Amino acid sequence: MSPIYLDHAATTPIDPEVLQIMVETYQQVVGNPSSIHSFGRQARKIVDESRHTIAKYIGARSREIVFTSGGTEGDNIAILGTAFANSDKGKHIITTKIEHHGVLKTCAYLETQGFTIDYLDVDRTGRISLEELKSKLREDTILVSIMFGNNEVGTIQPIHEIAHLLADHQAYFHTDVVQAFGTADMDVKDTPIDLMSMAGHKIGGPKGIGFLFVRDGLSLQAYTHGGDQERKRRAGTENVPAIAGLARAVEKVGEHFHERIDNCLHARQIILETLDEEKVTYKINGNPDHFLPQVLNLYFPGTNVETLLTKLDLAGVAVSSGSACTAGSVEPSHVLTAMFGERAPETVSSIRVSFGDLIDEDQIREAGRIIAASVRDLVSLRKAGEVL
Ligand SMILES: Cc1ncc(COP(=O)(O)O)c(C=O)c1O
Repeated sequence: MSPIYLDHAATTPIDPEVLQIMVETYQQVVGNPSSIHSFGRQARKIVDESRHTIAKYIGARSREIVFTSGGTEGDNIAILGTAFANSDKGKHIITTKIEHHGVLKTCAYLETQGFTIDYLDVDRTGRISLEELKSKLREDTILVSIMFGNNEVGTIQPIHEIAHLLADHQAYFHTDVVQAFGTADMDVKDTPIDLMSMAGHKIGGPKGIGFLFVRDGLSLQAYTHGGDQERKRRAGTENVPAIAGLARAVEKVGEHFHERIDNCLHARQIILETLDEEKVTYKINGNPDHFLPQVLNLYFPGTNVETLLTKLDLAGVAVSSGSACTAGSVEPSHVLTAMFGERAPETVSSIRVSFGDLIDEDQIREAGRIIAASVRDLVSLRKAGEVL
């Protein structure tokens, strides 16, 4: 049996059409977009058209899109760029305990630079409280960074409410949409979001490319220094083939939006049905009403996550313990810790199963059976006294 890949929240396989466009761009487009000759102009045209496609999809203007190398860089530019550019207005920032490390570690760095960061708690479903946000907001708050949908448990935050709450405040609102892009509605015309970071490799696009939406008029200080690319917000020659691929991947999200959601929900249902049929004890970590359809985080009492992941890998099922960046480390997930508390059993006995836009029902059912059998084995070994 060929291995079954259910780790799309870590990264997705590249869409063949996206790959085709990238190959053609590599083969046919020689120039540097900054060159004024015809080769350069040809490359510039691709970058401009791609920017336009992406901007249109999120309801932005072309000039509000900055190409980046992905989610981490987008988070860094958004947070460092606005913190340093606006420090005369205050040095207070609010984020949450469940952000991706691209946000959390950037905030931790800012703490060493004299900024004060408040980290919002989440409830047992992974949602922040708007009341807590209101109570932490200060006159000198310059930035609020709250992710759209969580990469480990899939919980979606009340982004529209947060954006409207902040609309009359000086604080900019940044949201990391790396996981949510593709299965959640986002339009910066309707929702007063100031900064939004995304990555191509979660939607069938290439790895190492993404964009940051930066609302017009916002003060942002570049932290890469060099050329004047991206309106001086991100120096360096643009990755033209990846940008062309990213634009096509975004376009395809728009073309297959509902189908993609339905496929993920269907896959999720198959896994849950199979676990029920196999009479395995489990609980879903996340919010029952506000969740990303592609992320399913499951708690299996009596298992150890690392042993379970290894067993599943050997049995041909690729899932994960959380974000790709923390997978492989022995640290319990900071997201599950924020939801359930230090040393809660959920933090050491949960796995993340995540789906892509194309699903193979038989494969997913088979994966469900393998997960059930592996869990049963581990639980019975534990009951028999073998500590795992
Ligand atoms: C929510 C979130 N933000 C940021 C990132 C980092 O994105 P990238 O890998 O493109 O740097 C990830 C990647 O898993 C993510 O899930």
